[in-house]
Amino acid sequence: MRARIVATGSYVPEKVLTNFDLEKMVDTSDEWITERTGIKERRIASPQQATSDLAYEASISALKKAELRAEDIDLIVVATVTPDMLVPSAACILQMKLGAKNAVAFDINGACTGFLYALSVAEKFIRTGASKRALVIGAETLSRFTDWTDRSICVLLADGAGAVILEPTDKDEGIEVIDIFSDGTLWDFIHMPAGGSKMPVDENVLRERLNYIKMKGNETFKVAVKTLEEVVDATLKKGGIKSSQLSLLVPHQANIRIIQAMAKRLDLPLDKVMININKYGNTSAASIPIALDEAYESGKVKRGDYIMLAAFGAGLTWGAALIKW
Ligand code: ACO
Repeated sequence: MRARIVATGSYVPEKVLTNFDLEKMVDTSDEWITERTGIKERRIASPQQATSDLAYEASISALKKAELRAEDIDLIVVATVTPDMLVPSAACILQMKLGAKNAVAFDINGACTGFLYALSVAEKFIRTGASKRALVIGAETLSRFTDWTDRSICVLLADGAGAVILEPTDKDEGIEVIDIFSDGTLWDFIHMPAGGSKMPVDENVLRERLNYIKMKGNETFKVAVKTLEEVVDATLKKGGIKSSQLSLLVPHQANIRIIQAMAKRLDLPLDKVMININKYGNTSAASIPIALDEAYESGKVKRGDYIMLAAFGAGLTWGAALIKW
């Protein structure tokens, strides 16, 4: 038994924040951001929207496309580092909003690799028969944890959500390989110092701006390129196919230069690589399912195609999946 993606959905908030808007907020330029990251604009949630609201819209879209009701779902896994609140999970709040009364619901924190972590867990539920129909979501409101005075990070992060529905299949299709990894020794490359049990928020935290995500961008960049190249190579090998057989690479959208390096390593032309970082920035766990939905809707993915998903993020975490669509 394998798990197959039967529908995709996505949602991005209406508000667009352009590089030119950011030029007015911090010492940066459209030229620097475009050249160093590939980002031109990104979406920002409204003050009324929390992560579960974005996840709800993406889920409804996927359910509609699959012609399913929320009651048909028996497992909800939300990948997020920005849940509505620490307790309960965003997945339980989403379950309530959807009315998915037959589901078990929980969150996974795998940062930018979060969607692959959630997909990997849900795939095991499906393969073992523990779930018949799973809703897997990547959703983030990173704008709430972004220091809008720190130019090294505020130009990168953004909000959005994407969802997929998984069902079992006994045919030669679906998720062929999915592997996830972590290295906690590099935890401080990307982290938010305060707001957890180690450093509860107090006046000092607010004054020192420790309740925002910090990133060692350059160090992270180097590890990301090397690790992603290795993981896609290993995944192709495990799947027994060559990169020339891939119809599409759907990478986490962290930096256009990281994506280009992966494409070069795989010898893939850029029209076989899903790129939408220019429109949405880095939406962490949401980036792959948003890109996947856009790829499917624009006809870039067809039944029988081989596609590769690959991500890297805080933790450090990374992973890849080979899917026969
Ligand atoms: N505008 C203008 N200048 C800037 C900006 C900005 N927004 N940000 C940094 N700079 C400056 C720096 O101060 C530095 O100036 P200096 O040379 O005078 O000291 C210069 O630009 C170069 O800075 P670097 O940090 O070396 O720039 P780099 O080319 O590495 O790009 C970036 C930075 C975009 C963050 C890149 O390192 C990157 O993408 N890293 C990987 C991110 C990633 O993959 N993260 C994992 C997922 S994220 C998650 O899990 C939430």
